[in-house]
Amino acid sequence: MPGRIQSALTRHRRLLALAILAGGVVAVLVWGVLSPSHADPFKAGYTDAELARRIERGAAVFAEQNCAECHATATAPSAEPSAVLKGPTLVGIVGGRAMLEDGRVVPRDHRYLRRAILDSRAEVVEGYGFQVMPDYSHLSEEDLVAVLLYLRSLEAETNE
Ligand code: HEC
Repeated sequence: MPGRIQSALTRHRRLLALAILAGGVVAVLVWGVLSPSHADPFKAGYTDAELARRIERGAAVFAEQNCAECHATATAPSAEPSAVLKGPTLVGIVGGRAMLEDGRVVPRDHRYLRRAILDSRAEVVEGYGFQVMPDYSHLSEEDLVAVLLYLRSLEAETNE
């Protein structure tokens, strides 16, 4: 009798351990999906075809969302605030530094650019404090990544 109880206990303990382990795995997976720290698309190892497809999607999103209404995507003669366009040029900005209204100089990495698009009031580019960029927090992660890769492609064009 005691032996049977013993083995039942061991079995339960194993089940418990298994349940805890499974719970842990699920928790890690959920955290991975919901975590706000997104991967850096500029370091992702896309194949050429995949990259080209994403850049093309980014250009389409840029057009659909009317970003060009306020932002230049071709080299402008001057980086000074334009009289026609309400926002700063987006040519060659990826990887550089942004001068902000509050005096900070921050790297234009993927985190900064994500915030610039999803929550533009978080960091305001120097000289543009009087303009407000619309809220684009409805963009999906995939479309946002596509836009970031598209913006970087604008840089590649000016470097050639
Ligand atoms: C109504 C005008 C307007 C539209 C439309 C607009 N923006 Fe902007 N954008 C601005 C202004 C003004 C700033 C500068 C102020 C700031 O930083 O919020 C800015 C800043 C930015 C910056 C930071 C630039 C830098 O020099 O660091 C990025 C990136 C950007 N916009 C991307 C986009 C994208 C992508 C879209 C479309 C999904 C878009 N914007 C649509 C007005 C606009």
